[in-house]
Amino acid sequence: MRVVDAFREAYGAEPAGVWHAPGRVNLIGEHTDYNDGFVLPFAVPWGVTAAVSPREDGVIRIRSLQAPGKDQVLDDLDRAEGWARYPVGVVWVLRERGLPVGGADIVMDGDVPAGAGLSSSAALEVSVALALNDLYDLGLERMELARIGQKAENDFVGMPCGIMDQAASALSEEGHALFLDCRSLGSRSIPFDLAAHGLQLLIINTRVHHELADGQYARRRRDCESAAKHLGLASLRDVTDLADALARLSGDERARTQHVVTENHRVEAVIGLLRAGAVQEIGALLNASHLSLRDQYEVSCDELDVAVESAIKGGARGARMTGGGFGGSAIALVADDRVDRVRATVAGAYEERGWAAPEFLPAVPAPGARRLV
Ligand code: GLA
Repeated sequence: MRVVDAFREAYGAEPAGVWHAPGRVNLIGEHTDYNDGFVLPFAVPWGVTAAVSPREDGVIRIRSLQAPGKDQVLDDLDRAEGWARYPVGVVWVLRERGLPVGGADIVMDGDVPAGAGLSSSAALEVSVALALNDLYDLGLERMELARIGQKAENDFVGMPCGIMDQAASALSEEGHALFLDCRSLGSRSIPFDLAAHGLQLLIINTRVHHELADGQYARRRRDCESAAKHLGLASLRDVTDLADALARLSGDERARTQHVVTENHRVEAVIGLLRAGAVQEIGALLNASHLSLRDQYEVSCDELDVAVESAIKGGARGARMTGGGFGGSAIALVADDRVDRVRATVAGAYEERGWAAPEFLPAVPAPGARRLV
């Protein structure tokens, strides 16, 4: 294994173990996690593999095969830079909680496609959380590890994300989507066998990330929190009468609320269809989700809209942006015999606009985080 060779080369010894955590795509339930709502992501076959050994002196030495020459040796965790802040943030959270976590030698190797918005950051966090849980015998459950990853990202990296990405990475099962109630943190694996229905879920990686958008995520969160406050509710999850709620709100708060409440309903509807074995029927809900994210939540962008529209034009049964938005990936539900046409239509639409070609990847539900060695 490449990461083991690199570990040996870096630290002159065998690693105590090797762990893997995947990235994710979200089938549906977007921008609902931090509103105590529902999400339905699944793990992808790409992620982060970490070779790790414990150290007695408390020092963290960390290297990534994707950042050659940027090794970091830290006795003060706060000095971690760039990509290393995600895994090192996990050490920080564990220690803040008073858990007996010493030092570690870490080498990481990732293969999440760049710019795809498939949560390589959650994979960085969860792989190291799982490794330290094993090496330091912390006895933490999977969901707890996910929450530690989220806290690292919130408080150490400074990105106010919800729990979806880390939970998907830590808890997904092969061949299944993960239904997660982000309030109770109860979860359930829902069989998601596209091949049995002659279908594929195609990831369309726009390869763009609009930097301008970086503050927008936090702004959406604030819109939702103030809308809930106006309604006298703990969160938008608690809206029971949408028409009444909308009548009492205006502007952005109204639009964000409409998205979150209807998106929660769409997650439940998709689960109903999956349980009934009617996978091919979820397309209309994917389309509705995209329109809501585009028009009410305002987190899409031209590249995502064109990917979705041209995928549908090419014969997809449904399509939507996936993840936080402003770039990253869209997903399209496509019958096997239409895949080539959908790809050609999307690629053609990009070419017509003079945009760099998008990347197409089949999304097959992969297993969640695990120890490999
Ligand atoms: C990002 C965040 C998640 C979630 C999605 C939107 O991926 O990390 O917590 O909020 O955006 O659904």
